Amino acid sequence: MNILGISAFYHDAAACLLRDGEIIAAASEERFTRKKHDADFPARAIQYCLDSGRIRADDLDYVGFYEKPFIKFKRILYTHLACYPRSFKPFLKAMPSWMTEKLIIPSVIRQKLGYEGEVLMIEHHLSHAASSYLLSPFREAAILTVDGVGEWSTATQGHGVNSDIRLFREIRFPHSLGLLYSAFTYYLGFKVNSAEYKVMGLAPYGQPTYYDKVRQLIDMRPDGSFHMDMHYFNYLTGLTMTNGKFDELLGGPVRKSDDPLEQRHKDIAASVQKVTDEVMLTMANYVHKETGTRNLCLAGGVALNCVANGKILRDGPFEHLFIQPAAGDAGGAIGIASYIHHSLLKSERTFTMRHAFTGPEYSQEEIREFLIGNEIPFQELPEPELLRRVAQLIAEQNVIGWFQGRMEFGPRALGNRSILADARNPENRDRVNLKIKFREGFRPFAPSVLADRCAEWFELSEPSPFMLLVAQVRPEKRQIPSVTHVDGSARIQTVDRETNSLFYDLIAEFDRQTGVPVIINTSFNVRGEPIVCTPADAYRCFVQTGMDYLVLGDCLLDKQKTLPRIESVNWNQTFAPD
Ligand SMILES: [Fe+2]
Repeated sequence: MNILGISAFYHDAAACLLRDGEIIAAASEERFTRKKHDADFPARAIQYCLDSGRIRADDLDYVGFYEKPFIKFKRILYTHLACYPRSFKPFLKAMPSWMTEKLIIPSVIRQKLGYEGEVLMIEHHLSHAASSYLLSPFREAAILTVDGVGEWSTATQGHGVNSDIRLFREIRFPHSLGLLYSAFTYYLGFKVNSAEYKVMGLAPYGQPTYYDKVRQLIDMRPDGSFHMDMHYFNYLTGLTMTNGKFDELLGGPVRKSDDPLEQRHKDIAASVQKVTDEVMLTMANYVHKETGTRNLCLAGGVALNCVANGKILRDGPFEHLFIQPAAGDAGGAIGIASYIHHSLLKSERTFTMRHAFTGPEYSQEEIREFLIGNEIPFQELPEPELLRRVAQLIAEQNVIGWFQGRMEFGPRALGNRSILADARNPENRDRVNLKIKFREGFRPFAPSVLADRCAEWFELSEPSPFMLLVAQVRPEKRQIPSVTHVDGSARIQTVDRETNSLFYDLIAEFDRQTGVPVIINTSFNVRGEPIVCTPADAYRCFVQTGMDYLVLGDCLLDKQKTLPRIESVNWNQTFAPD
């Protein structure tokens, strides 16, 4: 049973091939086209999925699309009519793509894919819910999906039992926790739908002194449902997120992206984060009360807010949490495919998504061929020696590009397309931020820690394989400053040997050499660029940045000995900042 799931035309286009309930391949289109958040029809991601499954489009039993475009169109139409004439500009801007593609998505898919069967569609939030619950280890769980907006829903609460999902409650547009967060992302001078994580990273530098003002924007009830005061927002009627009344409330204009970040901005970030934590926790409490289960599954863009996730785990009523690693719209491709397989076809659940390594991989021969073909000097080392050498290089304060196995699905690099450095050195935060990723230095990096040593170093009892939980670094273990935030927290990835033995063994080797089972793990890309996919992407990024060494499979490349063979690129111009 081969099922292709597709998400496209809004934020992050992606495809997934599910065979008998198991993910054979899943990847985002941006990694192939090198256009961050590429929303176009994911032709290359689909081709990659079919190739991985060694099938053609004719062999597909079902094709699914992650939402219902007609209902979404109705929402846009109603909103326009309700807000006319102020809504005329955004309506006009949205229309061309609706007329040419979005209203005829099934036929666009059939035509581009060369597929003749039916294209099944379910609601956007049902795809989010399915992407988390049906891939989780649980046979019963509460479900919470929270994002900007799907068709009408912006958040849902539900209950999963075996293969069935029942979403029993929703919050509807324009009231949206995701859009509230995006409004603040916009107000603080960052890119909406892309740089929300910067607001989260900025928050610990501030005090929530604007809490009351942010709470004034959102009227929340004890059950977690809420209404927003739309007088302060412009996203219904204009091309911006907020308006003059919002500026007045917060005591200043929208920050321009190159304006300095002042204490006021940090305090505002802390305030909106505090409100987000509160709403998420209240919704989690309610869905627990309604379902009475110990397990919670999370998805939707707001589930990438690992600070709120950490709060739910720490202060909420659930014992276990599963968060879809591609919690944003890319994950909808997995959601629709698994919904068809389990909930519609009633197939038994046998598969759990224990890792996110579902993307392309390159054999040692292909890597060697690339290096030799481009006359790039390298040293090929047997695995134990490679691990010893790389661990030593990290301990000697080198920054390493680490390219191994299958690429990750979702926004986090989890040890296969990663940049690695020593977490003990406080200078590494600025060094990697400024010289390698070309981005603001205020955000610390995430630590990867051996899963079986996590509790020793962090106040975290649950595994966090997808880097989606924030917890405190234990006070007696504060010798890892470049991954410890100003409030003593860290965004943790736990690494287990079953799902990534090579990465586990590398950190274990680093621990043997230094006594610290923790390293910096940041995604292998520069600011504004999608994570690297191919050896050529990785090499290009390596030669253009301050990285010292690159490891491609078993091949070690030393920057000193590597003459750039690829045309020089100015990264700051090539990729727009967030
Ligand atoms: Fe979504």
